[in-house]
Amino acid sequence: MRRRRHIQLPEGSAPFCDTEEERFDIEPFTMVIFGGTGDLSRRKLIPTLYHIFKEGIMPGDFSIIGFASSRMSDEGFRDWLKGFIMQYAGDEFEEGVWQDFSTHIFYIDGDLKEGGSYRRLIERLDGIAGAGRPVSLIHYMAVPPRLFEPIIKNLSGWGLCKGRYDTRIIVEKPFGRDRDSAIELNNLMLSAFDEEQIYRIDHYLGKETVQNIIFFRFANSIFEPLWNRKYIDHVQITVSETIGIGTRGRFYEEIGVIRDIVQNHMLQLLALVAMEPPAGFDADLIRDEKVKVFRAIRPMDEGYIKGSTVIGQYGPGEVNGERVRGYREEDGVSPDSTTPTFFAGKFFVDNWRWADVPFYLRTGKRLARRVTEISIHFKQPPLRLFSSSCEFIEPNMLVLGIQPDEEISLRFGVKYPSSLSQIYPVTMDFNYKRTFKRGIHPPYERLLIDCMRGDQTLFARQDGVEAMWSVVDPIIKAWEGIGMNDLPLYPAGTWGPPEAEALITNDGRQWRRL
Ligand code: BG6
Repeated sequence: MRRRRHIQLPEGSAPFCDTEEERFDIEPFTMVIFGGTGDLSRRKLIPTLYHIFKEGIMPGDFSIIGFASSRMSDEGFRDWLKGFIMQYAGDEFEEGVWQDFSTHIFYIDGDLKEGGSYRRLIERLDGIAGAGRPVSLIHYMAVPPRLFEPIIKNLSGWGLCKGRYDTRIIVEKPFGRDRDSAIELNNLMLSAFDEEQIYRIDHYLGKETVQNIIFFRFANSIFEPLWNRKYIDHVQITVSETIGIGTRGRFYEEIGVIRDIVQNHMLQLLALVAMEPPAGFDADLIRDEKVKVFRAIRPMDEGYIKGSTVIGQYGPGEVNGERVRGYREEDGVSPDSTTPTFFAGKFFVDNWRWADVPFYLRTGKRLARRVTEISIHFKQPPLRLFSSSCEFIEPNMLVLGIQPDEEISLRFGVKYPSSLSQIYPVTMDFNYKRTFKRGIHPPYERLLIDCMRGDQTLFARQDGVEAMWSVVDPIIKAWEGIGMNDLPLYPAGTWGPPEAEALITNDGRQWRRL
């Protein structure tokens, strides 16, 4: 279905750009969700699909098939899902919309490793689409990585990848555990699919404010000339969470913060800030530029890693006024675990634009506030004209706020009224919600729509995934095997271990106070 709405430009604006708000052309499709009864499916996928349907973006002809091991009928699956949709859609839930939407939902139970289940899947597809008719299929891998191999082999063996079926496959991170296993996983996928069919989801790329980084940088001429080592002193990227690991203890024990957040979300943010302008707004041109950034990140040896990166793990503490337990007391976590839940590090991008500009990254669970943002810290002016009254002028700073506040703010100094030469720092800001007076679409919505439309721009490409692993593999390896007593603990609800603070203050700089 095609949706057109015209953007109301602010009064007095010259209509420079095409003012069409959105245009989605989605062909009829069938989505098979492997692991249809799992957490991801019920918490994110089905509620998001419901929302897309409610917005009127779905084509008239689409089907969603949940495929999992629990025994259930179509009706049973629909009833079971309804509760989750009501819970996650909140006020958005409407009985009538749900009734219409649910007629598009089906269910197959079976062992995902067994060939016979795939024969039944084909029968079901024939039943829904009509035998012999071409079908556009989206396979969504909402399953643990250990099931990838049997599923992909079966899909391939049963002809569910190419030919009669025009197919795409969506895979969730983690894409492997390191570079070698990412290559192995990719080889497995490429044995059945072409690269153009593979959609690797990093939900950060679906966030409106993350996409906006490219627009902000390349649609405005005032910032780009300053966007380099000549004017920028350093960059800070923060992904701080107040939540702990919840019910994902066993999974997190295997992963840790570097694989969970740094290898993907944080390096993607870094690439969007550091990349060169692409030659066009095309999926591969953008991804080419990002890969160049990953490859330019200065390799780290063990000595550097131990001196310029910090890991930590949360202990018991207080978050938002509530007592919370430490990581080692969480369900599914070993009492002597050394899995890091905090990481901070100093990175360099060794290219012409960024030589010697530090990019400080910090991320952690159970920190003091939930904030994702990028702050660009500009250099001091070359001449201290006001030095008689100001030893230090607060440098200009541009903050790209991703969550919870979706905003961009610029900090600069002005003369304090009635003073002789006192500089006072002020902020000019733009806030998405205030300006557009509307909510922002959740990231999964945008990514699912893009996959339905066949647009890979916001999905990770294999060479990028491998290059990101090349950056973090040595860091993970250097910290692996750290003793329980050597791993810094930080009380939940703080900003991480003091070592992280020292990482930046030793350079004469400060973490941004959030
Ligand atoms: C996921 C991680 O990729 O991102 C989680 O696996 C993390 O551990 C989540 O909590 C953070 O996403 P967001 O959108 O809440 O910042």
